Amino acid sequence: MLSPLLQVYKRCKLEFVSGKGAFLRSKQGKKYLDLGAGIAVNSLGYAHPKLVKAMIKAAKKPWHVSNLYEISGQHELATKLVSNSSCDQTFFCNSGTEAIETAIKIIRKYYTSKKQAHKKEIITFEHAFHGRTIAAISAAGSAKYKEGYAPLLEGFVHISLEDLNIAKVKKAVNKNTAAILIEPIQGEGGVHVFSNKFLKELELLCTDKKIIFAVDEVQCGVGRTGKLFHHQWARVKPDIIAVAKGLGGGFPIGACLVKREIGSSMTPGSHGGTYGGGPLSMSIGNAVMDQILKPGFYDKVKEKGEIFKEGLELLQRKYPEIITDVKGEGLLLGLEIKQDYVKLVEIIRENGALTIPASNDVIRIIPPLIIKKKDIKLALSILDQSLEQFKNND
Ligand SMILES: Cc1ncc(COP(=O)(O)O)c(C=O)c1O
Repeated sequence: MLSPLLQVYKRCKLEFVSGKGAFLRSKQGKKYLDLGAGIAVNSLGYAHPKLVKAMIKAAKKPWHVSNLYEISGQHELATKLVSNSSCDQTFFCNSGTEAIETAIKIIRKYYTSKKQAHKKEIITFEHAFHGRTIAAISAAGSAKYKEGYAPLLEGFVHISLEDLNIAKVKKAVNKNTAAILIEPIQGEGGVHVFSNKFLKELELLCTDKKIIFAVDEVQCGVGRTGKLFHHQWARVKPDIIAVAKGLGGGFPIGACLVKREIGSSMTPGSHGGTYGGGPLSMSIGNAVMDQILKPGFYDKVKEKGEIFKEGLELLQRKYPEIITDVKGEGLLLGLEIKQDYVKLVEIIRENGALTIPASNDVIRIIPPLIIKKKDIKLALSILDQSLEQFKNND
């Protein structure tokens, strides 16, 4: 039968009917340890009691009223975000790509309002992924997402990662440069971590050249590496931060945070959206943030990330002919695989764990942040068993 669905996804024939903590159960009754968290979304795992409670409470109240009216949860969630970041204002939307779209619009509006409309160029990086709107694919560095969509949006300068250093970025800055936009850890691009030193140098360059420093924390943010945002490890203070995924713990929420001086160029009517910041999403976003901001939460993520990474490094030593690198920070980790990495993802899945391919050769490990240490042990033993099978199948 021909599918009534647009065929844009390569799905595996697996349907989940329930979940608890870091585990999912399929229709066939098989239990899976989820090391993908719905692509870094389910930060608090499945059926978290606080999130279920927040959802039920909000479900009994109006689901939608529009941004024509006050929505109390917005103020509360925005306060949690800005008081824990370098920014002062928040725009709520529904996805990461909308958060990026908002960032690009704010950058353009800011310079237009300063009568410097020629400043339109945004510097981005090879292999970056910023979402799927025309603006986001134009901003990104990866050709595969752009194919067939010309004409793309003008105004992006892409820097290759080969021999990347600050001098190379400096060379790309000119009188038309408006901003630098970077994912502090590239997720889709293959778990590529930019060093704290490089992020600091980028910030200094932006200050020196009076351009906007924008970060895409959609995948690496919201506690995933043991701080609210990964860039905070580098002690940098970006002007704009795009957030999504983990913020909703499974409910679609995006947010673009901005420093007041830049955000004040946005006036009533200059941007908006029907659904962004709705009561349901705010109730859940607030419940997620309350858990993430609990004392000790980040330390646990950091510790679990280290345990996981050490375990993966041991596996690399055991299977050097398969694993060429162990990458990432916190609970955003990746195994660089020399051979057919998609086949390995399948074997891991057959053995009861879900991982996510990235780039052309990386297996991403991005579990719910609440994963237990004993489940990390289980994950490592499933990976070990799968690598052994993969080696023998080869
Ligand atoms: C770094 C980054 N930015 C933006 C996006 C787009 O987010 P969304 O799929 O919610 O639109 C993603 C999604 O994977 C991402 O990883």
